[in-house]
Amino acid sequence: MNFILGSSGQARESEWILRASGQAKPDHFVGRDFVGSQIHGIEVISEERFKELITHGNHKVWIGIGNPKLRAKLGQEISKFSGVEFPDAIHPSAFYDYEYCQFGHGLLLAPGVIVTTDVSIGNHVHLNVKSYVGHESVIGDFTTISPAVHIAGNVKIGKRVFMGIGACTVERISICDDAVIGAGAVITKSIVEPGTYVGVPAKRIS
Ligand SMILES: CC(C)(COP(=O)(O)OP(=O)(O)OC[C@H]1O[C@@H](n2cnc3c(N)ncnc32)[C@H](O)[C@@H]1OP(=O)(O)O)[C@@H](O)C(=O)NCCC(=O)NCCS
Repeated sequence: MNFILGSSGQARESEWILRASGQAKPDHFVGRDFVGSQIHGIEVISEERFKELITHGNHKVWIGIGNPKLRAKLGQEISKFSGVEFPDAIHPSAFYDYEYCQFGHGLLLAPGVIVTTDVSIGNHVHLNVKSYVGHESVIGDFTTISPAVHIAGNVKIGKRVFMGIGACTVERISICDDAVIGAGAVITKSIVEPGTYVGVPAKRIS
């Protein structure tokens, strides 16, 4: 069976991307909210029911959850089930150098994404609508790149990083694991400690 984890915005957009690309038709959303109701004509089931269903057989799972830490927790939990695979969800309007980019599993490329060349992306990374990743950049597992984020060339972004809508970076900097970057922030220097960074140029607020 095919499952999308989540029932809110990112899950709904994931279903739209799968539908637009003709990649797969999900059988169920899996959520805490809306259990028993339908979203886009697809039934929402509980997490408990989902875990019963994936105990046997082969299944495809897309984690439609924007929060990197929650996505990481679920990804690690579910990967213990031997019959589960995590396919990508790639909108037909996303562009990337398919010959020279390296992608992990569970990748989400939303409409209008551009990933140029020699980019390396880990597992369960979400690149949202109209985000851009420049040459030779590296993005770690479970990181979320919100809509309209611009990442220059040779940038290294860690694991479970959240980059808010419209944020951008200059080239050749790095962002450590678990950092949170606010909407509209401009990252001009490497971030070496986890925390929340906002503004132009970005400064740590917590
Ligand atoms: C950065 C962020 C995570 C901080 O959230 P938070 O920890 O709840 O922080 P608060 O809302 O309490 O704000 C703390 C202070 O930072 C300021 N601030 C918050 N976000 C800011 C931002 N993006 N840019 C500039 N200042 C910001 C607030 O105005 C507040 O300032 P004050 O103390 O002078 O009033 C959040 O504001 C943000 O930008 N989230 C991104 C949302 C997003 O892009 N979602 C994707 C949707 S697809």
